Amino acid sequence: MSKLYDEYCKTYKLTEENSDGFYDLVNDIYLTDEVQSLAKYEQHLDIDRLQHITAVAYLSFKICKHFGLDFKSAARSAIMHDLFYYDWRDGETGKWHRLHGYKHPYYAYLNAKELCPGITEEELNIISHHMWPLTIFPPKSKEGFVVSMSDKYCAAHELFYSLSKKYKARFLKDIERF
Ligand SMILES: [Fe+2]
Ligand SMILES: [Fe+2]
Repeated sequence: MSKLYDEYCKTYKLTEENSDGFYDLVNDIYLTDEVQSLAKYEQHLDIDRLQHITAVAYLSFKICKHFGLDFKSAARSAIMHDLFYYDWRDGETGKWHRLHGYKHPYYAYLNAKELCPGITEEELNIISHHMWPLTIFPPKSKEGFVVSMSDKYCAAHELFYSLSKKYKARFLKDIERF
């Protein structure tokens, strides 16, 4: 678990050189205006959506690589798993974003299809089922399960980071190492 935490911390200091080939697999989508624009949106309080998807994608990539799974599909679909262009807490459009937790995987699915015409059915399945078990049907693949669990793991750290002064101080110290 501490190894996983270390990898999570590392995502805040990732470079082309220390990313273990992660960026080579995702840069064609990661560097698009659409994905980079996610930095504008708050995801988990102090953490923006670009930071969040980077962490989820890198962790999914590392875990899948470790277990001999399709790490490329996991990394690419995780980059697009929260690809929606609005702030779901937006007061003006709050009504429309009700049930956001259930709906946004489908918006991400549509946006991913548009951004990445070569996307595979497996990758689309990972995106559209990443909120499981909130949404009833689980992902079809092991890679989908890894992305879904990485998403929750990162979300928990991001919320702790934002809400706990003690955790934040420790985390900031930990990321200095990378
Ligand atoms: Fe999501
Ligand atoms: Fe997410």
